[in-house]
Amino acid sequence: MRHLIDPTDLTVEETGQIIALAEDIIADRAKYSQVCRGKKLATLFYEPSTRTRLSFTSAMLELGGEVIGFSDAASSSVSKGETVADTVRVIRCFADIIAMRHFKEGAPLVASQYAGIPVINAGDGSHAHPTQTLTDLLTIKREKGRFDHLTIGFCGDLKFGRTVHSLIKALSRYQGIKVFLISPQELRLPDYMLREMSAGSGLEFREVHTLEEAMPELDILYMTRVQKERFLDQEEFDRVKDSFVLDPDKLKTAREDMIVLHPLPRVNEIARAVDNDPRAAYFRQVENGKFVRMALILTLLRWAGENRPFERTPVFGEPFLVDGPVCSNPRCISVSEDVDRLARRSDDGACRCAYCETIL
Ligand code: CP
Repeated sequence: MRHLIDPTDLTVEETGQIIALAEDIIADRAKYSQVCRGKKLATLFYEPSTRTRLSFTSAMLELGGEVIGFSDAASSSVSKGETVADTVRVIRCFADIIAMRHFKEGAPLVASQYAGIPVINAGDGSHAHPTQTLTDLLTIKREKGRFDHLTIGFCGDLKFGRTVHSLIKALSRYQGIKVFLISPQELRLPDYMLREMSAGSGLEFREVHTLEEAMPELDILYMTRVQKERFLDQEEFDRVKDSFVLDPDKLKTAREDMIVLHPLPRVNEIARAVDNDPRAAYFRQVENGKFVRMALILTLLRWAGENRPFERTPVFGEPFLVDGPVCSNPRCISVSEDVDRLARRSDDGACRCAYCETIL
């Protein structure tokens, strides 16, 4: 059974096929209007969402399928203490495919072990957001025409930004990618990712502390929100919340063909005055999210019918059981639910929690 838990669960070739299918759907929507007739998508959202949940819903409806689920864990039996494993063993009786968003890192991986139907990670804590990555890649393809030889600036909350983590991982598999990491010290990319990038991921990267240092070189500026909900300490949030604001003045040194992406929602990190600049691609990006989720649902359901095996890009080895210390990440599902303690060995030799990638 194939799932999408991490962007590297898809090979580069498979990713390209899903992007190409999304482009075909855009070109001829009528052709796909009944292809999921009789199929149901369950959207299990334990955390708030506007774009991801509604674009999954809209995607399934446009494919002729139906949608069930919850948008608030409080209205489900999760509030009575039901585990992720038991929840998905129930949902598999009612649906053909699951999209899960959870505040615990690794929850969709747990779900994939018990569901018996394809599970899509719709965002797990600060860890990963692979369908946002597919959205970003489709947008990059449509706006820039390529995935290779691009310079991308990631700006804002690189520590908790799951969209940043997933997109960097996906881009590390293409040629000639240069990355500027633009963040305050407190919101630097997590150590496990910096280690991975330094250990020969193929990405060239540079850390800077101002937008101005990177702006003239960028093909893409990827802005992110400082996420209040991820901070355990309010004072730390207050210190960094206004670190970077993109306004028309800052765009003056940017290339004419640069694009500005943002996974949204935004708070104040992009001034409203930027919205009318043709380089502002973040609302076009939202619509791409629906088309690429249509392509993903269709692909995973087809693969489930064929029982297609994984051809995993070897970023991580296969998971194995561990008998050592528990994961030190308080946001990891393995800390709060009774799950198998799984680890993976990554290319840099480190043993990582399979659920959240924290080095054990
Ligand atoms: N980009 C994104 O995941 O948005 P939502 O939180 O609204 O789903």
